[in-house]
Amino acid sequence: MSRTSIKFPQGFKWGTATASYQIEGAIAEDGRGDSIWDTFCRKPFKIGDKSSGEIACDHYHRFQDDFKILKSLNCNSYRFSIAWPRVFPKGTGTVNQKGLDFYSRMVDELLKLGIEPFVTLYHWDLPQKEQEKSGWYKRDTARHFADYTESVLKSLGDRVSNWITLNEPIVSYALGHVVGLHAPGHHRPYKAMKVPHNLLMAHGWAVERIRALSPKSQVGITNALIPAYPASNKDSKGFEYAQDFLVRLFLDPVLKGHYPKTLEKSIFAAGKEIEPGDMSIISQPLDFIGVNYYSRMIVKNFFLPPYFFPVKPSYPGVKFTTMNNEVFPQGFYDLLTLIRNEYNNPVVYITENGSSFEDKLENNKVTDIDRLDYLKKHLTSLAKVIDEGAKIKGYFLWSLLDNFEWSFGYTKRFGAVYVDYPTQRRVIKDSGLWYSEVCKNNEFSATEGLDNA
Ligand code: FCB
Repeated sequence: MSRTSIKFPQGFKWGTATASYQIEGAIAEDGRGDSIWDTFCRKPFKIGDKSSGEIACDHYHRFQDDFKILKSLNCNSYRFSIAWPRVFPKGTGTVNQKGLDFYSRMVDELLKLGIEPFVTLYHWDLPQKEQEKSGWYKRDTARHFADYTESVLKSLGDRVSNWITLNEPIVSYALGHVVGLHAPGHHRPYKAMKVPHNLLMAHGWAVERIRALSPKSQVGITNALIPAYPASNKDSKGFEYAQDFLVRLFLDPVLKGHYPKTLEKSIFAAGKEIEPGDMSIISQPLDFIGVNYYSRMIVKNFFLPPYFFPVKPSYPGVKFTTMNNEVFPQGFYDLLTLIRNEYNNPVVYITENGSSFEDKLENNKVTDIDRLDYLKKHLTSLAKVIDEGAKIKGYFLWSLLDNFEWSFGYTKRFGAVYVDYPTQRRVIKDSGLWYSEVCKNNEFSATEGLDNA
């Protein structure tokens, strides 16, 4: 018999997540410098709908109203990111006080509403000037990131106690430097091998600064984790590579102090720049791990690096989001179980989980049954893994608002709240209304509110 009520532990944190470039707009305001995303969006054919984050959700000017909505969703927590080029328009050098003041006002507003901030220091908007100097190909960028972290801590550390160093370094590495679908748009698979280590050095040095300035802070890193499944029992080699690449590449160095074995060869170029002591800087103790889960990957063996390739799931009833992600809540359960087993059950926050579907605003309502179904099924998997003992302390729905979905522009909608871009009107979707009840009650009924297909 299925349970009638899905319950979460007392004190569970419920929130939504956003990222600076995807919602703020105001790219040239109050002294902000260009980020690599501003530059990338100006190039032809990079963004599906030719848009950019120039205006986005205009959150820079509307954050107070947006936080009222967040409050009405009964969220007790909120994850947002700071734009490095607002704080250091040139990456290093003179701090831009107005940039820091903006985030300081945001934090005050959240605290006034009783919402706990979780701050991500890097969600992909590298200052363009850093890119011009060397970007993530050199460890100087990691040093500059630590300096920027220090300035942010000095400004917000008295009020913020949850810090996430990097968001999804694998995406910066693979989509930004290997495939070129994200800023800086490079297709340099060989040179890119230096990128993961430099990102991890940025993480490690930032952790040191946070600990020094705010010893009581809780510090973590957020990873995009895609559990792999072999397409057949002949594909076990590809599966092993895929699991190492998609799950362990950024978890092993941080939690175990070494890169995954199967990948040691492919990070060989970076290896030349691994200096003595680096791995202990990278693997110093953390307070939590941030997990972003959207879907899984079914893989087959492949004879060239990365030695696997994905195959599209096909079975009766298979369902995809508009991002072409298979809806696969079992993967959420499997991934969190793997983390619990392989990494000694660390404290985890789900820092992102969500889905994009076609939404229609009709009579001031968005009836997003598919998103509600996705959310409910994933929260059910989450509750199960918590019941079994995984130390998961909170869940941040991606995202508060529909927003600029990187190379897809505004064509993909992930929000709990619909944004009508021409007017900037916000309308809470049905899934958002349902989520607000979960956040309020810390539980939900397993049967009501969705097709139980
Ligand atoms: C994640 C990103 C986030 C958003 C979601 C849909 O990979 O961290 O910014 O784009 O995907």
